[in-house]
This record gives sequence, structure tokens and C-alpha cells, in this order.
Amino acid sequence: MERTLAIVKPDAVARGKIGEIIRRFEEAGLRICGLRMVCLDKKEVEQFYHIHRGRPFFESLTDFMSSGPSVVMVLEGERVIPTVRAIMGATDPAQAALGSIRRDLATTIEQNAVHGSDSSESAAFEVPYFFAAVELLDYTRADRVAGPDREA
Ligand code: RTP
Ligand code: MG
Repeated sequence: MERTLAIVKPDAVARGKIGEIIRRFEEAGLRICGLRMVCLDKKEVEQFYHIHRGRPFFESLTDFMSSGPSVVMVLEGERVIPTVRAIMGATDPAQAALGSIRRDLATTIEQNAVHGSDSSESAAFEVPYFFAAVELLDYTRADRVAGPDREA
């Protein structure tokens, strides 16, 4: 089963959207296997987004991402990486699909509410950046299992 890293970014935390964003991931049937609130410092964000070093938006992005608390989580499911990217919507909220998180909740191309790993290579770097293997918990979504124990 595939895993990905998602982040509720500081803009969405500050506007009380943690629950709304997590609800959308849960409603898609994804399993949350790790979850934590963090306050990233500038250096940590620079390392996390190292692939963007040198881009014109890097300084501003790292200031924004270190401006307040974020929520980091690991999500699991079949094809979870593209699924989470679809639920998020395009980077620029003006281009994001109707009903996506960014279309509904983001304010600018930078303050865009949510992050998701964009490939299995990114996830392989980003998941262990925040979570040790023992912190990722295994359980079953009872509401997603067919059979006599199925709950509403
Ligand atoms: P993310 O990595 O956060 O999931 O976002 P993404 O893949 O959709 O976009 P990416 O190209 O990886 O950019 C990372 C984050 O940098 C900020 N950004 N600002 N001002 C700009 O033109 C600009 N472009 C990107 C956004 O916060 C974007 O999510
Ligand atoms: Mg990205």
C-alpha cells in the first residue's frame, strides 16, 4: 500500500481549516497513519523544499512555511499519491479544479493551504523527514471493509 506526506500549511491552520482538510482525506477513504502539529523553522523548511532552492519564490515560500504551525500527516491508500494531489488541486487556486481543497480554501499561489508529495521518490524523502517508522501506525478502516463488521 502506497504512503504519502501531506501538510496543512500555516495559512489553513490559522484560518481554522485543519478539520476540513483532514475530513476530505478521510472521506476519500485514505488511512491516516501518522499525524502531528509542528512549527517548522526556516532551515527545516529549506531542507524540506530543497528541490525549489534557487527558484524566485524560494525565499518567500520558506518564510511562509515557517510563519506558524502546520499539521504534518502520513496518508495511506491505493494510488494515494495521485489521489491526494487530485484532492488538493493545482498549485494556483485560480487554476485548481472545482471542489478541490485549493479551489475552496487557498488564497494565493503561495498560501495554498496544503502540500502533498508529488511522486513516490518525493514521498520516500518526505515521509521519513517527519516520521520515524515506529510512529506510523497500522490499523484497518472498519468503514471501508466489506463484511459483517461493516459500519456506516
Ligand atoms: P506542494 O509541493 O506544496 O505540494 O505544492 P505543488 O507541488 O503544487 O507546487 P510546487 O511547484 O512544488 O511549489 C511548492 C510551493 O511553493 C509555493 N509556490 N509559490 N509564487 C509562486 O509562483 C509559487 N509557486 C509555488 C506554493 O506554496 C507551492 O505549493
Ligand atoms: Mg511540490
